[in-house]
Amino acid sequence: MQITDAIYKRRAVRSFQTTPVTEDLLMKLLNATIQAPSARNLQPWAFVIVEGRSLLKEYSDRAKRFLLGSLDPESPLHEYRESLADREFNIFYDAGTLVVVCARNADPQAAEDCCLAAENFMLAALEFGLATCPIGLARPWLNAPEVKRELHIPLAYTAVMPIIVGYPTSAEVPPVIRAIPEILFWKRTPVTEPVYVDRKMRRHEREPVPLRRALDSKL
Ligand SMILES: Cc1cc2nc3c(=O)[nH]c(=O)nc-3n(C[C@H](O)[C@H](O)[C@H](O)COP(=O)(O)O)c2cc1C
Repeated sequence: MQITDAIYKRRAVRSFQTTPVTEDLLMKLLNATIQAPSARNLQPWAFVIVEGRSLLKEYSDRAKRFLLGSLDPESPLHEYRESLADREFNIFYDAGTLVVVCARNADPQAAEDCCLAAENFMLAALEFGLATCPIGLARPWLNAPEVKRELHIPLAYTAVMPIIVGYPTSAEVPPVIRAIPEILFWKRTPVTEPVYVDRKMRRHEREPVPLRRALDSKL
């Protein structure tokens, strides 16, 4: 798959088949994930993998309760209050696998590096017919100290990007329209034609061939 094809094809997918993603495939994806660039090559990522639809449904219920119990009216998550109160709503959309990209906090740029790694994960997944969706809603719950302990996330680490992954139920998901790129400033440098001069500073249209080589080619 071409890189730009993958970039354009990636969509946030919210409906999955029950077919599980194999361990072998997950390892392939994680190996692609860690090819991401990282500041000072610190590679400040670590991963938690949770498998099982019913376990993830249970985690979704716990995460929703946690969010509803701690939602600040000023929080941007407040707009999801109604969905969070809906018993049917599964924040993991019945996916069978959740991968959480975690950052070691010691490095101030760790979160950015983890986001780059997460994009690698999502693009690489397409190669194997898989689909993904980042689940920011799960983040506050995943970072609660008791949940970190349960999922073996050291307290000094942060769950940066939870991503569900699985085989999509439909082949195509309609694209979400993007606004055109907002270019704030584009300092152009005029492109000039190269100027060729010989030793006597006479201008030439093409690079002048040295006399010795010109003679040689005639022999
Ligand atoms: C950091 C982040 C958090 C997200 N959290 C959620 C989420 O909790 N639930 C969800 O359904 N989608 C979530 N999304 C997916 C976005 O809604 C989706 O990427 C956006 O609507 C654009 O659609 P596209 O990815 O198909 O282009 C998240 C995306 C990002 C980047």
